[in-house]
Order: sequence, then C-alpha cells, then structure tokens
Amino acid sequence: MTFKFSKRVPVGGNDAVGAILQAAADPKVISFAGGLPAPEMFPVKAMKEATDKAFEKHGRQAMQYGSSAGLTELRQLILKRIARKEDVHAKLENVLVTTGSEQAIDLVGKAFVNPGDTVLVEQPTYLCALNVLKTYGANIVGVPMDEDGMRMDALEDALKAHPNTSLIYSVPNFQNPTGRTMPAERRKKFAELASKYDVPLLEDNPYGEIRFAGKHVPSVKSFDPDGHVFYMSTFSKILAPGFRLGWIVAEPEVIQKLTVLKQSADLHTDNLVQYAVTEFLKDNDVDAHVKDICNLYGKRKKLMTDGIKKYFPKSVKYTNPEGGMFLWVTVPGVDDTVALFKKCLKHNVAFVPGDPFFAGKADPGTFRLNYSNAKEDKIMVGMKQLGAALDEALKN
Ligand SMILES: Cc1ncc(COP(=O)(O)O)c(C=O)c1O
Repeated sequence: MTFKFSKRVPVGGNDAVGAILQAAADPKVISFAGGLPAPEMFPVKAMKEATDKAFEKHGRQAMQYGSSAGLTELRQLILKRIARKEDVHAKLENVLVTTGSEQAIDLVGKAFVNPGDTVLVEQPTYLCALNVLKTYGANIVGVPMDEDGMRMDALEDALKAHPNTSLIYSVPNFQNPTGRTMPAERRKKFAELASKYDVPLLEDNPYGEIRFAGKHVPSVKSFDPDGHVFYMSTFSKILAPGFRLGWIVAEPEVIQKLTVLKQSADLHTDNLVQYAVTEFLKDNDVDAHVKDICNLYGKRKKLMTDGIKKYFPKSVKYTNPEGGMFLWVTVPGVDDTVALFKKCLKHNVAFVPGDPFFAGKADPGTFRLNYSNAKEDKIMVGMKQLGAALDEALKN
C-alpha cells in the first residue's frame, strides 16, 4: 500500500539522530553522543521503597484512571520546590503534571502554533523541541546567541521582523546543546520583551538544579510581569528520565487549555509513578541527592575540559558550562560535521553533529559532547581518540 501520511509527518521521515545514536551504541565506541543522565545516580533502593509505600497506601487509586491535571499532592510538592529553587511562586491552578517535560513542549505547540506562525528559538536549540514545532507547521526562526545565551537585541529585531510570532522557546540554564546560561539582567529583559510584544515565552528548565559551579540565577519566570512566561521542568535529570514525569506552570486559562489537549493525548500521566515520586519526595533528602549528581557531573565536566586542553588541536573552541550535561565544540576549518562524525567513529568515539540543533543553516564544524553519562576512566581515553580524529580531519 502507498501510505498517504499527513503533512505533520516529517518529509523523508529519516531519523538522522537515531541513526547517529545507533552507530554510537557499538560497544567499541566511547560515546559522548546521547543525552543520558548517569544511571549510577538513580536512587533505585529509595525509589523501590517509595513505590512499595505508594502501593500500600494508594494501590487501587494508583491502578485506576486519574485526573488529567495530575495528583494534587505531587503538584503541591512541585510548587514548593520551584518556589524555593527557582523563585517561581504559583498556585495549584497554575500547574499541570505532564508525561515528561517533552509533553509540555508538545502541548504548548499544539495550543499556540498554527501552521505558518513564526516561533523564535535559540540558534542552536534542543532538537526535539525543533521536531515538535515542525510538526505544528511552525516557521522556526533561530535567534543568534552569544556566550550568555539568546541575544536580546537580536530577539527584538526578530520580533519586529516577524509580527506573526506566536511563541518564543528558550532553555536559559545550561542550554542543550551549548551549555550556556543566561545572566539575570538579560532574563529580566527577556520577560519584558515577551510582555512588550505580547508573545508567550516557554522557559524550558530541565537542567537548572544541576549546577556544579558559579551562582544560581533566578528563572525568567521570576521576572515575568504579567503571565507571558510559561515555566516547565522535569524529574528526568534530578531523579530518573524513565519515569516520564514533568510539569508546566502558567496562567490558569492556559493550564485549562493544555489540560484539555492533554486529555486527547494520554488522559493523564502514569498514576503509579506520580504516587511513588510523591512518596520519594516526602521521605528523602532530595537536595542532598541532587548535590551528589552535581558533584559527579562537575568532576566529569572537568575531566572532559582537561582532556580537550590536552588532546584537541589548539584552534578548537568549546564552552565551559557551570552545570547541566553538555558542552559545545566548534572546530574552525571543518565544514562537514557529519563527515567528521564518521571519521571519529573510525577512531571509536562519538558525538552528535551540530546540524540537527539548528532551525536553519548550521554553524559549520560544531558538535555536542555529553559528559554526564560516560564513566571517568572513559572520558580521558575518549578525548584522546577524538583529539586524534580532529588532528587528522584538520590535516586533510
Ligand atoms: C532542553 C530539554 N527540554 C526537554 C527535555 C525533555 O525532558 P523530559 O525527559 O522531561 O521529557 C530535554 C531532554 O533531554 C531537554 O534537554
């Protein structure tokens, strides 16, 4: 049969990134490609206890259909945590539990983006957000960044040039893929611009708590004068991505619409996971757990930058994040990063080429390295292999 897929299905439909991750999964290859947390940090025992408790206390409710908005007690705990950690002060009617924060991006895309609308994103940005926005037919426009994240002069120019902008999407903390963080002054301006041009701003903050150096910066949402900023985050990086548990905070009117759209998507997020994570949050020192994650990632990031300094050609530029899971490399003189990826695979080392992170033309010679997942002993060896591959590429 010839299948006539809808216009929402990407043309070509090839999963280029999936192919990269598959190639990188070869056991011979040291992979810095995936975006995975360190599994040794998953609190398996404590989570098992929390799940047992959830079954004992709420077994039947956990196995029954539940509310689309999410469990009230979990939403209250989320609100307490984001008030303390991110200066986001909101009420129960402002928060929706989502099936991973990925679902929050999808619901916001569905609620706000009509085909042909412009959506402004950092250049480069999180590739799965690009995929969501493409599904809704967005005209995605990349706004240039500097070392402090999205440039506000460039954002204002883009807002003037694209009066049909229906959404701004941003990852202000330890951005995926660059690791860059936006300073407080710029965040204030960011919230003001969203308000001035009357465009919703989706602040995606999966990595904010994963800070291993420098000082905390208040969320963009904390500068929001009038409800234009929607704040979203996740348990994926501080607990476990497999639970698929995230949330979004916005004005009640927005939450109501997103809740209706969520009903069509999955009725509600997994009840057992919600009950179990609620018990986990009540019984454990989550701050201490997050601190352990930060210490490990800080150590791994330092090993990686030490390896870069030691083994990479001196012309190579890289970001030096204070948190999160990624750093961003630029190799001047390399045009085809996919060809570079193939060369590196021959040296048994892998990364994600920069291309899929760009809405338009990619900056040449860019790629993303993940430092959270590879064990310490592999990082230096991997950097040595990568350095050798880069030397070879630049000689050619
Ligand atoms: C910037 C960004 N947003 C959202 C997500 C999705 O996370 P979740 O596991 O909560 O769906 C990720 C995952 O890597 C991410 O990097």
